[in-house]
Amino acid sequence: MAISTRLHVLGTMLGSAVQHALGHPLVLSAPACDRSTLARAADAYIAAQAAGGVGLLVDIVADGWEYEENIVRKDVRSGVLSKSLKIDHRRTIYDLVACATYTEVIGADPADPYVIGTQIRHDEDSLATLIDSIATTTNSWLFNAQRTLEYVLQETWDPIPKDRRDSREFIKAASDAYLDMWSNDTAADAVPWRTPCARLEGGVYTGRGRPDDSCKAGIPTNTSQAPNIRRRHEFRLEGGKLRVELVWILTYAYGLE
Ligand SMILES: *[C@@H]1O[C@H](CO)[C@@H](O)[C@H](O)[C@H]1NC(C)=O
Ligand SMILES: *[C@@H]1O[C@H](CO)[C@@H](O)[C@H](O)[C@H]1NC(C)=O
Repeated sequence: MAISTRLHVLGTMLGSAVQHALGHPLVLSAPACDRSTLARAADAYIAAQAAGGVGLLVDIVADGWEYEENIVRKDVRSGVLSKSLKIDHRRTIYDLVACATYTEVIGADPADPYVIGTQIRHDEDSLATLIDSIATTTNSWLFNAQRTLEYVLQETWDPIPKDRRDSREFIKAASDAYLDMWSNDTAADAVPWRTPCARLEGGVYTGRGRPDDSCKAGIPTNTSQAPNIRRRHEFRLEGGKLRVELVWILTYAYGLE
């Protein structure tokens, strides 16, 4: 079963949304990971998905590149990427430290709805070595592409002004603490809960547009469950630690079998 909460977090890509939305690499001396090359690859990925034509990837992939869908390595020709989708929304965030992108894709056509989160990882030449998707559709947990689209379009994912960005480490620690809650009974206390905060899980949104909207609602009460592994989620933290107006919007997408 594929599950799409929309915490499209990205394991080590964490913080990329915030840190790199404007394309400012943290480590200027690192080997070049070129934002425009990553953008070209993400755009080729979207073109391939729209056309159902993996041939459109030929210029952006490395030799021996791999495709993974819902945590299973497979032949891309048998994957959702080989299927033409009408795409209603896409947004790509860039991680120039990990040299990777994350693209959120929503196709809300009731005849063939999909919500997909895709990481593309690149080598030192910025060619794609792995396209890794979590793809959800009808009968996935809480799936409702129309509502997902509606909520996603209401959220603001503009770049956060530089002086208000949390560090990559802070965002990663916050997200890891969140995902530890299933298997660690003190993890919830380590999450920097703020209000308002909203969570989008499948087509269900916890936000009510109120200042006291909280993401604590519905967190695990059983903290002895299997740990969340191979984390790929997307969180957005707004407001530096020193700020009073703090907003934490949190969204995610993960897959389980
Ligand atoms: C449980 O979570 C706390 C808070 O994040 C952390 O300090 C601790 O190392 C975690 N324990 C384990 C076993 O992972
Ligand atoms: C908590 O989850 C574990 C692992 O799934 C399960 O074995 C255990 O029975 C659960 N405990 C409660 C109180 O539900």
